[in-house]
Amino acid sequence: PTGLLSDRLARPLHDLRISVTDRCNFRCVYCMPKAVFDNNYQYLPHTSLLSFEEITRIARLFVAHGVEKLRLTGGEPLLRKNVERLIGMLAELKTVSGKPLDLTLTTNASLLARKAQSLKDAGLQRVTVSLDALDNDTFRRMNDVDFSVDDVLKGIDVAHQVGLGPIKINMVVKGGMNDQEIVPMARHFRGSPYILRFIEYMDVGASNGWKMDEVIPSAEVVRRISAAMPLEPIAANYTGETASRWRYADGGGEIGVISSVSQAFCADCSRARLSTEGKLYTCLFATSGHDLRALLREGRSDAEISTALAHLWRARGDRYSELRTSQTEELKRERSANKVEMSYIGG
Ligand code: GTP
Ligand code: 5AD
Ligand code: SF4
Ligand code: SF4
Repeated sequence: PTGLLSDRLARPLHDLRISVTDRCNFRCVYCMPKAVFDNNYQYLPHTSLLSFEEITRIARLFVAHGVEKLRLTGGEPLLRKNVERLIGMLAELKTVSGKPLDLTLTTNASLLARKAQSLKDAGLQRVTVSLDALDNDTFRRMNDVDFSVDDVLKGIDVAHQVGLGPIKINMVVKGGMNDQEIVPMARHFRGSPYILRFIEYMDVGASNGWKMDEVIPSAEVVRRISAAMPLEPIAANYTGETASRWRYADGGGEIGVISSVSQAFCADCSRARLSTEGKLYTCLFATSGHDLRALLREGRSDAEISTALAHLWRARGDRYSELRTSQTEELKRERSANKVEMSYIGG
């Protein structure tokens, strides 16, 4: 039988995040800063990308090992041509437990209003949308390509109308840039059908020039919102959930805070990541991945690839965010020069 997998720290494998393109039409300062991702930046050539058939084959083997959630990311996943076809293929997969597969996608919403219906029809269940501010000038400074807040809100509404929910909204908080938007964002989405989540700015990749003093700890986010609209903690939906949940004391729904810096959640991390060109990463902060595309293109059998996946997961000991706090400055510098970009590995 397909014995369910457990890694060196006894963490199961639940969640596969698949990056379908390393390109994006935004230049968020914390993810793909213009200074690095300029006209000369070398994106992956098309032949390097996994095909939809290759992605589906790997996903199928992961699902057979117990994965119950697939998330398409990038870059911006809706920029991948015919991504609806891939969604249709993934939607056919059946989990070991018999629970419906959670098939979702993280998007900047630039193409969402246009594509929501076809995504839903293809079998996508829900979407998570990134939105870093309600104030247009602030949002434009964050995305750096003049994209407007209204267009994102429009995309969210259309997605909601076609039934791509429950929709979560992710806001990365970068101190000194958009932290004044924490309370307005909370106020705007309070009482809406959407769950707003605040994400601590992370030292992911090697190009965003991350500094600890630009991180606003989640405790501070909760304190600021609570001062205006009192919050109380609520229990997690499932083990290994990235967000800690809070609800408004007088009704009005919930928010989440994702504290990857101030309170690492590696202890329950059950996420594997498949990069755009088919490398498997067992941590968001890994410096190298395992080349699954080579196995596919060498003509290995399902059984061989499946065994390789099991080996990789059983050998996994990653817990970067927990170690970040204790590492020496020297080690950190060495590591940070080599970390892969989030747009490549998938947020
Ligand atoms: P749901 O709660 O099921 O919607 O999904 P999720 O929270 O796993 O996914 P989502 O893509 O919304 O994750 C939100 C953000 O949390 C990501 O964009 C990352 O910034 C961060 N994140 C997700 N997974 C990890 C992880 O394994 N490690 C760290 N350090 N950060 C993560
Ligand atoms: N810190 C935190 N989250 C990030 N994302 C990208 N870069 C970072 C970073 N440096 C996440 C955001 C965005 C998603 C696509 O990736 O959540 O919504
Ligand atoms: Fe694009 Fe998302 Fe990265 Fe922004 S955070 S540059 S929208 S991939
Ligand atoms: Fe998982 Fe690595 Fe993030 Fe820790 S730092 S939660 S191990 S992806």
